[in-house]
Amino acid sequence: MKYFAYKDNALFCEDLPVSEIAKKVGTPVYVYSYRALKETFDRFSAAFGGTDHLICFSMKANSNGAVLRTFVKAGGGIDVVTGGELERAMAAGCDPKKIVFSGVGKSSEEIKTALVAGILQFNVESEEELENISRIASDLGKKAPVAIRVNPDVDPKTHASISTGLKSSKFGICHDNAVEIYARAAKMRGIEIVGIDCHIGSQITRVEPFVEAVRKARVLMEKIKKRGIALKNLDIGGGLGIVYKDETPPTAEEYASAVKKEIAGLDCKLILEPGRFLAGNAGVLVTQVLYNKEREAKKFVIVDAASNDLMRPALYDAFHKIEPLHVEAGREKVHVDVVGPICETGDFFAKERPLQTMLPGECLAIMGAGAYGFSMSSNYNSRPRPAEVMVNGRDSFVVRERETVKDVVKGEKVPGFLK
Ligand code: LLP
Repeated sequence: MKYFAYKDNALFCEDLPVSEIAKKVGTPVYVYSYRALKETFDRFSAAFGGTDHLICFSMKANSNGAVLRTFVKAGGGIDVVTGGELERAMAAGCDPKKIVFSGVGKSSEEIKTALVAGILQFNVESEEELENISRIASDLGKKAPVAIRVNPDVDPKTHASISTGLKSSKFGICHDNAVEIYARAAKMRGIEIVGIDCHIGSQITRVEPFVEAVRKARVLMEKIKKRGIALKNLDIGGGLGIVYKDETPPTAEEYASAVKKEIAGLDCKLILEPGRFLAGNAGVLVTQVLYNKEREAKKFVIVDAASNDLMRPALYDAFHKIEPLHVEAGREKVHVDVVGPICETGDFFAKERPLQTMLPGECLAIMGAGAYGFSMSSNYNSRPRPAEVMVNGRDSFVVRERETVKDVVKGEKVPGFLK
């Protein structure tokens, strides 16, 4: 995390001590580095130089408008999975012609909105969805640009909850029937076949599963072309992993060169849907220590962030590094569980982690929190969600205000008989 580094024992985001943000905005707070986002995007895009490509940031990883704008201004498109994401992508200035719409359960309303907006491509996940899109598009007198998500049955060798490319998963259509489904789709009214799509999973730290998936997609593309169906776009999804602990994922260049080798000579536009890779290590969650507690042989550091703010450890047992905002030389290192205030045993950020002794009021940064952090947060325990701040150089900008309890109860109503 190049833009989150220590200078004289103080953790900085770019040129700003992170503690200044905690002081100004309070905690817990998400902090994103603009330069990290922008540079990662530019480097990823440069790695695909020489190939006709479009990087559609998978905004489920981080839906903050300022983050989206960073990628949009850099030339990126957006991968959306709901009408809500579609609306936010367009509000962030994304040209609908650079939006791909993925997901197994697009509602008729969402399909209609996307058709009217004129998006680049629907990544269709079932025959019933295809029929629904066909019906809606013909009613509107439009042609829906469609790619079919084909499940390549590749094991991405990642956490079971985030692997999606296996036969047993709910995603995509089966590789074996794909050619027949394409042939049927090509005859449907209101459908214009534009491409093929696959996505095999997330936090993938090896290049081989991607190579295998792209190879299978290519074979399929050739079979589909033989049926007289032209495919302009090859969407290979997202999934490239990042370093949380000691993983050794492929670099952007290694990933790109492996993909480029597989698609050499194919006449089509390559669409990529990275989420985590672009945002994960561009953000941290800053939290303040409330109490220390010792029970039998175990030591706990209780912080003001909780699993509702960052669910990954609770949900996937995910590892996130935790760093003090100030390294105090000479402080004893102890093994602690870092836990939040929520009434769940799963409310933890780290277990048995060596950490310098922390005093109440001092702050920690939970690293690698830029992807699937705020975007998966909830109001469990009636906790208003944290503020989000973007840093650019020495300047910081609140890009989403901290919620209040008023926001949490907004929309609630008391029925007459309880008044
Ligand atoms: N495209 C599709 C169709 C997807 O389903 C996903 C992620 C992506 C792209 C982006 O994948 P990425 O490049 O970020 O790996 N909440 C989990 C991750 C769930 C990923 C869901 N799909 C986590 O925190 O690890």
